[in-house]
Amino acid sequence: MKGKPVSYSAIHDQTAIVFPNDLNAYGTLFGGRVLELGDRVCGVVARRHSGRECVTLAIDSVKFLAPAKGGDVLVFMASVNRAWHTSMEIGLKVYAEDFRTLERKHIFSAYFTFVALDDKLKPTAVPAVIPQTDDEFRRFAQAEERRKLRLK
Ligand SMILES: CC(C)(COP(=O)(O)OP(=O)(O)OC[C@H]1O[C@@H](n2cnc3c(N)ncnc32)[C@H](O)[C@@H]1OP(=O)(O)O)[C@@H](O)C(=O)NCCC(=O)NCCS
Repeated sequence: MKGKPVSYSAIHDQTAIVFPNDLNAYGTLFGGRVLELGDRVCGVVARRHSGRECVTLAIDSVKFLAPAKGGDVLVFMASVNRAWHTSMEIGLKVYAEDFRTLERKHIFSAYFTFVALDDKLKPTAVPAVIPQTDDEFRRFAQAEERRKLRLK
């Protein structure tokens, strides 16, 4: 199966506005909402890379780094770090942007593991990831270390 570059599936600026029903009891963005939106964005990356239906197997290294407020613009960035036989690691970063100034604050990071499924809903092989930039090579190498820890 032919490998694909990271750029084939990466998402650089998927946006969403924080509405009142996205807030927690303290009036800041509810973390579960970020996870849900992020899972959808990463799911698109996994589907683009594999060309298959995919399911989320695991989410780890979840970090809520800073709060976002109502009216902020959320900017999602996601890319595939590495693929193995049937699974892929997708890295997600989320920023909160003040639309008046375009100033961005990094509010969330996590790694999502997706598994590609065949027509019988069984795990199926995915293309390798071809890293091209320095960052992509670094993420590719570090993803192997993270996978070892996960499988332990
Ligand atoms: C995802 C699922 C199909 C995997 O089925 P399974 O029988 O465990 O499949 P396998 O044992 O063949 O493992 C599949 C891949 O996951 C990897 N894997 C298993 N446990 C893992 C873990 N803890 N962390 C990272 N990868 C893991 C395996 O190494 C394998 O990857 P590889 O083929 O690239 O080496 C099954 O667990 C499932 O259906 N889970 C529910 C998914 C779901 O409903 N998600 C929420 C809705 S999208």
